[in-house]
Amino acid sequence: MADIESLLKEKRTFKPDSDFTRQANWNKKTTNEYRKLGDSNPTKFWAQMAKENVSWFTPWKKVLDWKPPFAKWFVGGKINVSYNCLDRHLEGENAWRKNKAAIIWEGEPGDTRVLTYAELHREVCKFANVLKAQGVKKGDRVCLYMPMVPELAIAMLACTRIGAPHSIVFGGFSADALRDRINDAEAKIVITADGGYRKGAPFALKPTVDEAVEKTPSVDRVIVVKRTEQPVDFRAGRDIWWHEAMAEASAKCPPAKLDSEHPLFILYTSGTTGNPKGILHTTGGYLTHVTTTHKAIFDIKDDDVYWCTADIGWITGHSYVVYGPLANGATTVMYEGTPAHPGPDRWWDLIEKWGVTIFYTAPTAIRTFIRLGDEHPKGHDLSSLRLLGSVGEPINPEAWMWYHRVIGGKRCPIVDTWWQTETGGIMISSIPGAVETKPGSATRPFPGVHADIFDEAGESVKGDGGGFLVLKQPWPGMLRGIWGDPKRFKETYWSTYDQTYFAGDGAHRDKNGYFWIMGRIDDVMNVSGHRIGTMEVESALVSSPDVAEAAVVGRPDEITGTAIVAFVSPKGTTIPDDALVGRLKKQVTKEIGAIARPTEIRFTNALPKTRSGKIMRRLLRDIASGREVGGDTSTLEDFSVLAKLRESDDD
Ligand code: WTA
Repeated sequence: MADIESLLKEKRTFKPDSDFTRQANWNKKTTNEYRKLGDSNPTKFWAQMAKENVSWFTPWKKVLDWKPPFAKWFVGGKINVSYNCLDRHLEGENAWRKNKAAIIWEGEPGDTRVLTYAELHREVCKFANVLKAQGVKKGDRVCLYMPMVPELAIAMLACTRIGAPHSIVFGGFSADALRDRINDAEAKIVITADGGYRKGAPFALKPTVDEAVEKTPSVDRVIVVKRTEQPVDFRAGRDIWWHEAMAEASAKCPPAKLDSEHPLFILYTSGTTGNPKGILHTTGGYLTHVTTTHKAIFDIKDDDVYWCTADIGWITGHSYVVYGPLANGATTVMYEGTPAHPGPDRWWDLIEKWGVTIFYTAPTAIRTFIRLGDEHPKGHDLSSLRLLGSVGEPINPEAWMWYHRVIGGKRCPIVDTWWQTETGGIMISSIPGAVETKPGSATRPFPGVHADIFDEAGESVKGDGGGFLVLKQPWPGMLRGIWGDPKRFKETYWSTYDQTYFAGDGAHRDKNGYFWIMGRIDDVMNVSGHRIGTMEVESALVSSPDVAEAAVVGRPDEITGTAIVAFVSPKGTTIPDDALVGRLKKQVTKEIGAIARPTEIRFTNALPKTRSGKIMRRLLRDIASGREVGGDTSTLEDFSVLAKLRESDDD
């Protein structure tokens, strides 16, 4: 609540600049018209967007078939994502894009590759033929576990060309996490690389895949990109080099004419239980959503150089590094490595070098750069920039102002975009040529998006007030389900309120109808913009023979947004020492990956519980953040536990 009070004291506003508005894809007039249509008739609005922004082989018969919570969009329409991202830029009046840069890629060591639309098309067709030659058919799942190299985008688009849904697993996940995701999706094939570059050194990926696929009965092939030239164990009969397979592949591969509701990809994300959820997205609606929002919110033009810094392993990378920008015929920048290598100015160097005009990143990165000092961005010419974006977590007004002043030179509008893996595309955001911004607010829902704030009883909160963020109408990019688990899909998103999507975020709406997102209200932490379930970390901890019980909570952190704190009660004879801390951190890294490693582990003999045995995380959150333990403790079973935890805090 302290956060929201300080946010709502924020009185600064920034009107759209008239020069920007004059050239904007969506100006005030268009935005208002779309808003009106989206409010009164959302399906008509989205149908118009699907017609204007996306190419169909066969038009749909019905815009929306809504049997809550199951939606079908553009029913009967035939479409292909890779056709929209590639072929249509090589034909007719767009044919001039043939030699336009589709992907500008830079590796961490400084090597570069630029793929034009014609080249990317050729590579994608070839790799689609490689997949076919390996027996991958329409509907088969393909797992991608890769560094940020162009082959990742090529593999994604090749999957979409033949209708094989991909499941990308972020390269930071461990062998155990990769194995679970492969098995859940029953992937037929894994695409990986020997490794990639990070923090100035090569890291390996292939050994992780080797370990994972020992226990994945569905996988019969592993295709390996040579990126770092490090030695790899090669299993004859199973492993194939990417470059060898590509050398023989034909560059002719017509795009499959897929049903609008054909599965496009699965992406795993954390929830409130130990098992990650396979979020399923389908073809026509998703593409309509990401293409439209990318065009309107990022104001993309043919001469822009657009850079979204997200890793493709997360939803932001899927929607706004690859599919949205390429469907719009844009030039998208991909960078392999970390922001601070070889120096803390690498990103600013990239912006200057490639003339980046639109830049989309996360608040955690912005806060890191604030700490590193203004001299690094100031040492570079950032005058090519014309628009900035933010995503992944609430951006605090001070970080917003710094971004505006130091990176945007006070001339670039900022779009703060709220959305989720589940929503597929942006749901709440400013439109840069049309909407006045307030630092810290994602402003208003995108046209056609019916966002609201509900109280616990499911009543819309009127006027200035806070509550739970919900979506009251289906939208084209919405998740179609959790892979293999319709029951969990219903329970997680659709059981809190009737026929209304429950986002899991708390939010406040001010008197002007602006949304201020406060963050997760469930047991999901947002660490550096990445979702990690407290339960996932807990089950990793309790799988250690030393641990009797564990409870994990988030504590506010200036840079990462949230730091992971674990309260652990060791088993009888185990000595809670530094060595145990080290072992437990390793355990979490092994089971999930380094992104989930707790910042702090605290030992305790007992955890605070309710009389029915539920761990009272609220109290642990207060203790972890050094706050006075507040609220109702009347259900606490054993008060002495609380006192002991407080004592351990003073140590
Ligand atoms: C948070 C990332 C505040 C939110 C696209 C959401 C945000 C979760 C914002 C989804 C924003 C995302 N302001 N919070 N602009 N954008 N979030 O699935 O808590 O990785 O529920 O998708 O990130 O994270 P996910």
